[in-house]
Amino acid sequence: MKVVVTGGLGFIGSHTVVELHRRGFEVIIVDNLSNSSVDVLTGIEKITGSKPIFEQIDLRDKAVVSAFFKRYDDIAGVIHFAASKAVGESVENPLLYYENNIASLVYLLQELQKKKEARFIFSSSCTVYGQAEKMPITECASVQPAMSPYGNTKRVGEEIITDVAKVSGINAILLRYFNPIGAHETAEIGELPVGVPQNLVPFITQTAIGIRPELSVYGNDYPTIDGTCIRDYIHVVDLAKAHVVALQRLLDNKNESKVEIFNVGTGKGSTVLEVIRTFEKVSGKPLPYKIVGRREGDIIEAYANTDKANTVLGWKAESTLEEALTSAWKWEQKVRNI
Ligand code: NAD
Ligand code: WQD
Repeated sequence: MKVVVTGGLGFIGSHTVVELHRRGFEVIIVDNLSNSSVDVLTGIEKITGSKPIFEQIDLRDKAVVSAFFKRYDDIAGVIHFAASKAVGESVENPLLYYENNIASLVYLLQELQKKKEARFIFSSSCTVYGQAEKMPITECASVQPAMSPYGNTKRVGEEIITDVAKVSGINAILLRYFNPIGAHETAEIGELPVGVPQNLVPFITQTAIGIRPELSVYGNDYPTIDGTCIRDYIHVVDLAKAHVVALQRLLDNKNESKVEIFNVGTGKGSTVLEVIRTFEKVSGKPLPYKIVGRREGDIIEAYANTDKANTVLGWKAESTLEEALTSAWKWEQKVRNI
């Protein structure tokens, strides 16, 4: 059964391709390599033993997207990862984000709505909740006005999918990711941040390996147990598995509505300092860091209520923070040939 994975050479997409292969799906990767490398295909092949079909396509090109779906008319589903995802960049260059994240989505949906039935899984983000009032966060928590153009593309993307699903044969599942970290246990694929990492864990591993002199901890004056922000860090492989379960749910027609939403996290919150301590424990390396001022736009805490994902979707995160950080460290050492 053929499945299209857009952004399939990216961090989460590549791990999902591996899990889809394990479950016997034939994967067609669509990626424009704007934030990944074709070398990721080699990593996937080393893990799975086979190289998936790869089409280097920019989803902003409507005609190319249309021609693609004419070439592949027997697709069981589309898992849509392709997007730009740097919050800070989105503030500086909003139209880059609205074009890339919204136009691409519209062109994909225009093709899918031509089909009698279509299955669509969308990469959303807990960022749509903003600073939720109540922890842990359920799917019923209100969606807040976005804190960034990036976050707005996720919020609007969800609305677009919902509107189109009402008047088409599209059945969709929106997965609201919390904070994906780590890498495949083989260290053949992982996160490849371009330039200075914006996210905590790749910055930690690059500091530990000596690329960065020290980690800046963005504020320790928050109303939390140790003053630093709380997030729900989920192993990327657990997150990847959630996509396979979601796809199978749609294939088995088990979805209870045209659009379903699930929070995908561990259900456990960790502070920045707890992540640092845990990393030091698993790596055996003291991590140089300094406390600096708060980062603009940061929320205090976000961790998932995973009851719906566990009981309705039938998926549960299995890996611990220690395991996820161990895999991230192993990957960093592999990438730097250490
Ligand atoms: P990533 O940048 O590693 O992967 C995205 C992939 O999409 C890249 O390979 C890139 O080359 C490709 N791409 C981008 N624009 C494209 C286009 N126009 N046409 C074709 N390919 C294109 O990002 P990721 O971390 O794997 O995130 C995947 C998805 O999950 C994104 O939609 C992101 O917004 C969402 N998400 C990520 C996080 C996170 O912390 N990483 C959290 C929540 C949601
Ligand atoms: C986590 C915590 C920082 C770096 C972002 C996007 C979100 C999603 C995931 C795409 C925060 C602190 C970080 C550093 C630090 N991406 N930190 N020093 O901000 O929760 O979410 O990535 O969808 O949309 O907003 O993740 O890893 O950037 O930060 O102290 O060098 O680590 O303040 O408390 P975040 P993050």
